Amino acid sequence: MKTRITELLGIEHPIIQGGMHFVGFAEMAAAVSEAGGLGIITALTQRTPADLANEIARCRKMTSKPFGVNLTFLPSVTPPDYPGYIKAIIDGGVKAVETAGNNPQKWMPMLKEAGIKVIHKCTSVRHSVKAQSIGCDAVSVDGFECGGHPGEDDVPNFILLPRAAEELTIPFVASGGMADGRSLVAALALGADGMNMGTRFIATKEAPVHDNVKQALLAASELDTRLVMRPLRNTERVLNNAATERLLKKEKELGDKIKFEDILPEVAGVYPKIMKDGAMEAGVWSCGMVAGLIHDIPTVKQLIDRIMSEADAIIAKRLEGFRAA
Ligand SMILES: Cc1cc2nc3c(=O)[nH]c(=O)nc-3n(C[C@H](O)[C@H](O)[C@H](O)COP(=O)(O)O)c2cc1C
Repeated sequence: MKTRITELLGIEHPIIQGGMHFVGFAEMAAAVSEAGGLGIITALTQRTPADLANEIARCRKMTSKPFGVNLTFLPSVTPPDYPGYIKAIIDGGVKAVETAGNNPQKWMPMLKEAGIKVIHKCTSVRHSVKAQSIGCDAVSVDGFECGGHPGEDDVPNFILLPRAAEELTIPFVASGGMADGRSLVAALALGADGMNMGTRFIATKEAPVHDNVKQALLAASELDTRLVMRPLRNTERVLNNAATERLLKKEKELGDKIKFEDILPEVAGVYPKIMKDGAMEAGVWSCGMVAGLIHDIPTVKQLIDRIMSEADAIIAKRLEGFRAA
């Protein structure tokens, strides 16, 4: 399949793996890129820029195909060493960066001078238009369904994607709730040039996480995610578990007096415990409603091949069949 996204990124299939904290290691990114999509290493999971440089080098040994790096700009009192991470990306010869969180404007000159394609992930049309105006090459439009941070507008992809198509001239991918060939064809129909998946890629053989995480996704339905941290205007969609329930109870009890410090036990430093050790109740972790569409743990190649052949069958048989009728 050829779209503006496959052309822009030099990939075979219009499928991107979104950055994921403690999932986006070299193994994950390389598996997606080897299967013809764009795999993405998550920069901030690496403790230092030197660690990121090593991770990029490790990924390069596993695949000769293009892969990217996610740079998440978090609001923070002591920000990570972003210039150092960007230097590691440039020196590592990475050609695509997924930015997320705050506006990446400050870092655009460094990235563009190095010839890097910038895909900014945003949860609203206004942020997408802003990304376009500051020179991003593409955007990833993340609907309310998504795992992780859906923003505060709560607009689902059936509205958000065609609205993005109305306003944007640069290509965009649909993100949030994407799982299979049906998602891909729907995304294309709504104006996107491809799709970005997070949660679905965790339930694959190569995803470098504890098997308990994959089993939790198999067991979950579309009803099993919750929105946390809304009172802090840092809304996150997570899988429901004991920690999530505890956090929501605190939100209810403390109301608008709640502070980030009140929920530290549920959110701080929990990812390694969950993703590496499989301690599923250790804290809250991002998960999309798409969990309801996850019924198996294929290899990444099986997943991507299946998506592409399903999409092909939907277009050539189901949709074409309606036309003929
Ligand atoms: C476990 C997990 C961790 C994530 N961590 C990050 C992150 O560190 N930075 C980021 O930009 N997005 C992060 N995301 C969001 C994904 O990149 C992607 O936008 C989202 O998962 C898309 O929605 P979906 O899960 O419905 O496919 C994370 C998602 C998950 C499920």
